Amino acid sequence: MRVFLLGASGSIGQGLVHEMLARGYEVTALSRSDTSDSLLTKWGVTPCKGDLRDPFSWAKKAVGCAAIVHAAAVPFDDMPAVDRDVTNALIAAAKKTTHRPRLIYTGSCWLYGETGDQIAHEGPPFDPHPSFEWMITSAEKLLACRALSTAILTPGMVYHRDGGVFRRFLEPAQAGRPIEIWKSGEVRWPLIHRDDLSNAYCNLIERPHLSGHFNAATETGVRVAEIADVIASALGSSADHRVLSVDQVIERYGAWASGCTIDQQMGSERLRQEAGWAPKALDWRRSDLMERLSVL
Ligand SMILES: NC(=O)c1ccc[n+]([C@@H]2O[C@H](COP(=O)([O-])OP(=O)(O)OC[C@H]3O[C@@H](n4cnc5c(N)ncnc54)[C@H](OP(=O)(O)O)[C@@H]3O)[C@@H](O)[C@H]2O)c1
Repeated sequence: MRVFLLGASGSIGQGLVHEMLARGYEVTALSRSDTSDSLLTKWGVTPCKGDLRDPFSWAKKAVGCAAIVHAAAVPFDDMPAVDRDVTNALIAAAKKTTHRPRLIYTGSCWLYGETGDQIAHEGPPFDPHPSFEWMITSAEKLLACRALSTAILTPGMVYHRDGGVFRRFLEPAQAGRPIEIWKSGEVRWPLIHRDDLSNAYCNLIERPHLSGHFNAATETGVRVAEIADVIASALGSSADHRVLSVDQVIERYGAWASGCTIDQQMGSERLRQEAGWAPKALDWRRSDLMERLSVL
């Protein structure tokens, strides 16, 4: 199967490329730099030089493939307009094709907002973090387009062998410095290992009759203090955590970062029941990341 990937060099995309190639897909990926070109070529992926900000230059090529995965909508200031144009370009190009391309659009768990002790299930109602609200418009437009077969895949916080969302905990813990806890250690994050997420993307690609919203989390909500404690202990650090207020987080890291302060739980029943999803990394404390840290 020929697929076109946006975001191949990213945290999610790198794992997804590996899974797609293992499944025998022929992968073309958007690349905006020579560095990404060489990385992609080394992996066996065909680079397509282009930028999200110029979608009409590559959209025809993308919809020429059987499937497209969009995992590149990162929260830059201009992303609402950029992603609107990407969406419009894909829709316009799809309307001119004779086949119906499969599209998997990556959502954000922060669209569900605070859930506290409740569990967010697939799709609306949303209570979006302002930095990601535009994703809802893109998702709705894509789902409504009959020229595309669209599913929205919303991952929890993605970790992997090199860290992923836990990465900012690793360096201070390794140096024996306090790990920053944003807002409160009681905040819960839904978690997913990148390998399980990659399987979720591919399972959805291979089931084009499935439309609408799918969540992907293997642990519905794990407290951030527990994550920080386990990582600090694995790296031999006894330093206390340092708590930053939401205002301090925004001032230091930008408005998007306050998403990490949302106390949330998210379930993935639809993916398990309808898409044959059988995740393997059910406990992040026994993951390949923790195995790696324990021998450092
Ligand atoms: N990571 C998570 O825990 C998580 C959880 C839920 C949802 N998501 C969503 O998943 C998506 C991907 O997240 P990620 O963590 O993998 O992001 P990431 O590591 O920052 O990677 C972003 C990817 O998008 C590409 N990209 C960004 N701007 C581009 C542009 N103007 N033109 C072409 N390519 C561009 C980057 O290419 P370069 O290498 O050239 O920069 C990179 O390949 C985002 O929409 C994010 O909101 C992520």
